[in-house]
This record gives sequence, C-alpha cells and structure tokens, in this order.
Amino acid sequence: MPILQANSLSKRFRRPDKGSGFKGAIKHLVQRKYKNFTAVDGIDLEIEAGESVAYVGPNGAGKSTTVKLLTGILKPSEGTVRVMGRDPHTERIANAHGIGVLFGQRTQLWWDLPVEESLKLLKHMYGVSDADYKARIAKFDELLGLGEYMPALARTLSLGQRMRADLACALIHNPKMVYLDEPTIGLDISVKDRLRAFLRQIVDDGTTLLLTSHDLADIEEVCERIVVIDEGRIAYDGPIHELKAHYITTKAVNLILEGQADVVKLAEKFPDYVWSAGEAASEVTVTYESARFTTAGVLGDLTAQLAPRDLSLSEPSIEDVIRRLYAGELTKK
Ligand SMILES: Nc1ncnc2c1ncn2[C@@H]1O[C@H](COP(=O)(O)OP(=O)(O)OP(=O)(O)O)[C@@H](O)[C@H]1O
Ligand SMILES: [Mg+2]
Repeated sequence: MPILQANSLSKRFRRPDKGSGFKGAIKHLVQRKYKNFTAVDGIDLEIEAGESVAYVGPNGAGKSTTVKLLTGILKPSEGTVRVMGRDPHTERIANAHGIGVLFGQRTQLWWDLPVEESLKLLKHMYGVSDADYKARIAKFDELLGLGEYMPALARTLSLGQRMRADLACALIHNPKMVYLDEPTIGLDISVKDRLRAFLRQIVDDGTTLLLTSHDLADIEEVCERIVVIDEGRIAYDGPIHELKAHYITTKAVNLILEGQADVVKLAEKFPDYVWSAGEAASEVTVTYESARFTTAGVLGDLTAQLAPRDLSLSEPSIEDVIRRLYAGELTKK
C-alpha cells in the first residue's frame, strides 16, 4: 500500500468578487459577493514508502495548497487523502506523529526561545525518548552544523541558521513521511549544498520525501521522481531521468577557437549543427541532435577541422524542459 494516496483532490477558495476601483470596494462593503477559485483541481497522487518526489510548478500553481491538504492543515473541497492509512485532516494528532513538515517561508521555532528549547518542547510533544533525542541532535549537528547556535534565540538567527533549525524541528520525531515546501529559499550556495546533502542522507535512510522548490538543482540532487503541477493540475508525473531523456533531444559543445569565431561561416561549413556565439569573441556553442549524432563523432569532426584551443560539454539542463512544460509547450500527460 502506498504511504500517501490522494484521489481527485481539489481545493476551492472563496475570493471576494470586487468591482474595480473605489466604487467596487464600496459596493463590496454593502453587498458582499464572492467567486470560487480552484487552487488544486482533481489531483491523483500516490507515493510509495522510500520515494523522493519533487513537486514543482510556477508561482501560484497550487503547490503549497497541495502540501497543506496532504498534511491536514486544510480540508479538501473534494477528494480524499490517506497518509499511512489515516485522513490527515480528521486525524490530525495521530497523523502529526508520523509526518514532518517545513514551510520555508515560515518558521515553527518559538521566536523568543533559544533553538534548544523549541526542540525540547517538540521532544516532549512527540514523546521522543532521551536517547533518541540525543542521537538525533548529534546527527543534525554533524550534518547541519546546529550545535553553535542551539543556545541562540530564534529571532536572532540568520535565515540559513533558522532554516537548519527548522529542519531539525521538522525531523526530531523521525517522521516516515516528510513534506518540505521550499526549504532552500533565500539560502546561499554553501548552505544549500549542505541542506541538499542532508536531504539526500535522510532519503537514503528510508524517509519518504515530498519536496517543493524553485531551485531545480535541489530537485535533481535529492529526488528521483518529479511531479509538475500547473494551474492546480498535474502536468507531468514520472522519473526525472525519463523526463530528461524524453524532452532533451539536443546536446551542446562549447568551443574556444584560436581567433575570432565567425558564426555565419561556421554554420555554412557545418550546416548539420546549430551555431551560436558565446560570451567572448573566440567562443562559440555548437548544438546538435543527440538522435542523429554521437558526441564522439561531433567532437572528432570539430577538433579535426577547427583545432579549438579548448572545449567543454554543456550538461543537458532540466531547467529548459521545465520551462517548456510551464509554458505549456510540451504535451501534458
Ligand atoms: N487561503 C487562500 N485564500 C484564497 N486563495 C488562496 C489561498 N491560499 C492560496 N490561494 C491561491 O491559490 C493559488 C495557489 O497558491 P499556492 O500557495 O498553493 O501556490 P504555490 O504553487 O505554492 O506558489 P508559489 O510557488 O508562489 O509558492 C494562488 O492563486 C493563491 O493566490
Ligand atoms: Mg508555495
């Protein structure tokens, strides 16, 4: 049985239906009108224990609303959710023991308490044993570098410190199912790296993860499966490598030539490839279809005829695929 199962999950919000301008605002005060807005629109999602699932989509797509539905914070307008066999909304307390949640935009630390006290409160709330608590804090310290600011008041922490402390709070009871909504938002590269390594570790240890992020490197490093949501509906659901293999049909090589690169001449000489100018005058990028040409063949061809000073392969980027998916260019599944 999947650890998480959502069927035809929908959430509608009632939004004030105001006419425009001052007149509209006054009218709304006298006669309130509302219209329904569907933020999550019939989502079917099954997650097996141990999976690491990226949940991505443009701003306003319905990601945070879905996470709130899945964690029981919001009640669905339609459809059902089961997490470890429970309805997370009606069985919130039992559900809370099995799940960990982090909303990167908010904190669950008590603002005026030292980090350590927030963690101890959660320890008692969840009934974590002293031994487990000690072991977990030691692990968080090792992987996240938590120790130094355990005595610090939450409100004095930097964003990166706060996020790491929040992550420890979300995981102190060793939940089986973890939801992280933008855990790397606003963090610098070194903290992001540390967090990703940590997330990879908890996934390797068997935790099931649903991760929302606008940073696709988070997703590629941590998750195996990707669910793309757009306007409340699932646009793609499958392994990340399949999404790439299916939609990334071209590869690219960057060349640095001895002299100036003349893109027009090069395109005439090698009409099978697509040529584009690089940042410097001597730089040029060659794009080719991976189904038609092998990388070795292209490199052989280019080095023999152009004798470049240097060359490098461009990694195929999932960003491009996601951008096209968001833009609705790719067929939806
Ligand atoms: N409580 C609410 N009342 C009315 N509308 C809401 C409410 N919460 C969310 N919405 C609307 O639902 C839509 C989806 O919001 P949601 O926060 O789920 O998006 P998101 O995918 O998490 O976006 P982001 O990437 O910006 O975090 C948005 O249009 C938002 O304005
Ligand atoms: Mg959100």
